[in-house]
Amino acid sequence: MSTEKKISVDAGGGNRGSFTGKIGFVLAAAGSAVGLGNIWRFPYLAAKYGGGIFLLVYILLSVTFGFTLMVAEIAIGRKTGQSPIGAFRALDKRFTFIGVLGAVVPMLILPYYSVIGGWVTKYAFGFMTGHMTEMATNIGESTYFGMYISNVWEPIGWFALFMGATALIVLFGVQKGVEKVSKVMMPVLVVLMIFIVIYSFCTTDNVWEGVVYYLKPDFSKFTYMTVVAAMGQLFYSMSLAMGIMITFGSYMKKDISIENSAHQIEIFDTGIAFLAGLMIVPACVAYDPSQLTKGPGLMFGVLPKVFDNMFGGAFIGTVFFLMVLLAALTSSISLMETVVSTVQDKWKLSRRVSCLIVFGISILLGVLSCLGYSAWDDILVFGKFAILDFFDFVTNSVMMPIIALCTCIFVSFILKPSVVIDEISLSGRFRLKGMFSVIIRYIAPVCLLVILVFAILEGVGVITV
Ligand code: PFF
Repeated sequence: MSTEKKISVDAGGGNRGSFTGKIGFVLAAAGSAVGLGNIWRFPYLAAKYGGGIFLLVYILLSVTFGFTLMVAEIAIGRKTGQSPIGAFRALDKRFTFIGVLGAVVPMLILPYYSVIGGWVTKYAFGFMTGHMTEMATNIGESTYFGMYISNVWEPIGWFALFMGATALIVLFGVQKGVEKVSKVMMPVLVVLMIFIVIYSFCTTDNVWEGVVYYLKPDFSKFTYMTVVAAMGQLFYSMSLAMGIMITFGSYMKKDISIENSAHQIEIFDTGIAFLAGLMIVPACVAYDPSQLTKGPGLMFGVLPKVFDNMFGGAFIGTVFFLMVLLAALTSSISLMETVVSTVQDKWKLSRRVSCLIVFGISILLGVLSCLGYSAWDDILVFGKFAILDFFDFVTNSVMMPIIALCTCIFVSFILKPSVVIDEISLSGRFRLKGMFSVIIRYIAPVCLLVILVFAILEGVGVITV
């Protein structure tokens, strides 16, 4: 059996290679999907790209494009019973490259994902050791976070710690334990987030202005970048266009409904992102609106201020950051596991050597990302991206749309949508068959192509928003 099968998706049933039941599949897929994308990335994009209008575009894309691509990937995985490279090879040798491209994306995401995981670790530790107020206070013009990432060594240290923990868990194959803990913690995280939202709504002055900003679509703020950013976020958050869902599909039993599972993952993933936005965006408007367009540091700049104003904030903040850390860890483990399996299969290496290689590359690329905010902050790729932001841009706005586009073309014209539809219909009637066919054949390829061209032109500075 392919070593890629080792990715830990068995929901505890002992029989590795397929899920024990419907809920097992949904939970495992949601465990991979829910992570920093929802809690860190979604709120800053929503803040940056106009609040309500971004939210609206995101939700619309999620129930149309997101759904279509997700069921297609799961169906390809289940039909072939293989991980991405093998799956495309089995269906048509000429299209193996889509699987290969998909395998490269997690390798590029893992390092910078772990840099952010390092930031979360630092904040969890800081809260735990009584530094909350310090972390909530601006230093001159800059937030504490701004000062922190401009240090050369400290962020590298926390990143190495997070990356090391991920690598050790993958090396010793103990992710099942972590996943079990996380399945219990996830519901706690959701309840905690709801509590924080309610608390901050009741106690923060001016918070409603921010709620309106986040919930009310302002169409004058709509630009093509709203769609580009929302689409990239959709892929990232739902772990689409990087082969992950194909791998998950390969473990799924034939009598489980792909359609219903996709809806549940979608609702769960988008629900958590929505809540995170509700927690962060209005608080940002209330405390420091100038941070709205700042980007990746948003969560770290705003949340300490929320907790600092809260009764028992040090405790609640500690628990919150610990849970985010856990969500980040389960995601980074599944990213690393994917890459390690690919390396192991491709070059016929032992698991230990593969882990070491992936760890080495990740440390190298992650250190670059850290330095891009500190010693090398004068280096701007294409004149605008810090190194970490550049990796984020290349994977989300360029590579994933390319993979999604190729997948749509492949399913529409080579494989034919009927093959996917038949696979989905194995467990009962495919209710959204009509929508699926139209989107995968016509709407998705055209939109993806347009988005890709705009994203690249914007990225290299030919056009600006
Ligand atoms: N979907 C995850 C998130 O939103 O944080 C990121 C991710 C995790 C992508 C695991 C891919 C993956 F395999």
